[in-house]
Amino acid sequence: MTAAMPALSPRMSGIHASPASILRRRARELRASGLDIIELSSGNLDFATPDHVIAAAHAAALRGDTRYTDVDGTPELKQAVRAALLRDHHLSYAQDEIIIGNGSTQALFNALLATLAPGDEVIIPAPYWAPYLDQVRLAGGVPVVVPCPHNNGFRLRPEDLQAAITPRTRWLILNNPVNPSGAVYSREHLSDIATVLLQHPPLWILADGLYEHIVFGERCAPTLAEIEPRLTPRTLTVSGVAKTYAMMGWRIGYAAGPAALIGEMTKVQSQTTSGASSIGQAAAVAALNGPQDLLRERAIVLRAKRDLFVGILNDCAGLSCEPPEGTFYLMVNCAGEIGKAPPDGKTIRTDRDFAAYLLEQANLVVFAGEDFGLSPYIRVSFANSNAAIEEAGRRLKHACERLQ
Ligand SMILES: Cc1ncc(COP(=O)(O)O)c(C=O)c1O
Repeated sequence: MTAAMPALSPRMSGIHASPASILRRRARELRASGLDIIELSSGNLDFATPDHVIAAAHAAALRGDTRYTDVDGTPELKQAVRAALLRDHHLSYAQDEIIIGNGSTQALFNALLATLAPGDEVIIPAPYWAPYLDQVRLAGGVPVVVPCPHNNGFRLRPEDLQAAITPRTRWLILNNPVNPSGAVYSREHLSDIATVLLQHPPLWILADGLYEHIVFGERCAPTLAEIEPRLTPRTLTVSGVAKTYAMMGWRIGYAAGPAALIGEMTKVQSQTTSGASSIGQAAAVAALNGPQDLLRERAIVLRAKRDLFVGILNDCAGLSCEPPEGTFYLMVNCAGEIGKAPPDGKTIRTDRDFAAYLLEQANLVVFAGEDFGLSPYIRVSFANSNAAIEEAGRRLKHACERLQ
């Protein structure tokens, strides 16, 4: 007999598990069932966490850094974050203007929970990292999605930002470089956005720079606060070690902003997780303070993988994409596949149908553009071995050729 489940909070209506977590589990299940799955959906890099970082974590555990840390992070890590923000962005923050979270995911949520009243609006350019939407909803806010199509370089145009701002707008979330498109906002782009924001003082700005070091032109993608210091008092600059140092599972991220906001975020954190792992924080200190040459070397490797995959994809009938300036993702236009069908199967009507077709017929796991608020696209990652990229390319080409 199955007992009726006690009620859930109305807060949960319309909240989903993140698309990434669903696909990760699906890929694992399929692999466990014996299928030769290639995961092009992962947000993991296929680089190892650097050895000196692992050594620092080991040493920290051995010397007894195994207790609760300060809720907002260890003084050593906050100091290392301050030094990194100065080095990479010429931004100078005090110790009480920094918070360390369990990944930048937690830092983002702390900020939204601490600031949103029911019905407050948050502007989110699309394509977007999907958790922004549900985090806003969980905090009682309303996501306002602004489409940023390919012909705008997948970037938010100042006039579209201006048009989306209402008296209820509390935040703009601006991700640079953008997951999933890989678009990068240059200093000029940010300066144009800043001009609009300066006209709207009650608005907070969340600058998410998680992929800031995975860029193929410059050394580091710029962030809003360094472009327009007048915005600094209402900007939360967010980043983390996950993508920069291939430390996805260590769960360390950070935010820098006005002390009053950081203080409120710290209260949220004190009542939810009590702070980040002591060992993870020791590892992040080593990553941020250690040699940085690795970042450029890895960006060069990723650029070669990008070029390899872009070439392969543009050779597949019905698919097209351009090399992005950052991240390790490609937003691949699949408009050419919509309306087609395999000889033995159903017509592909949406990018989700196309992603399902690739999973069933080619054992390829990809995201549907719909998960990022822009269709018809699929998002694939090129943070894979060259052999996996080439094999994925063969399967994609074959799968596309079967569609009529
Ligand atoms: C744009 C963006 N922001 C934030 C995050 C959260 O990363 P983490 O919590 O690992 O720091 C991710 C993760 O993939 C992301 O893609």
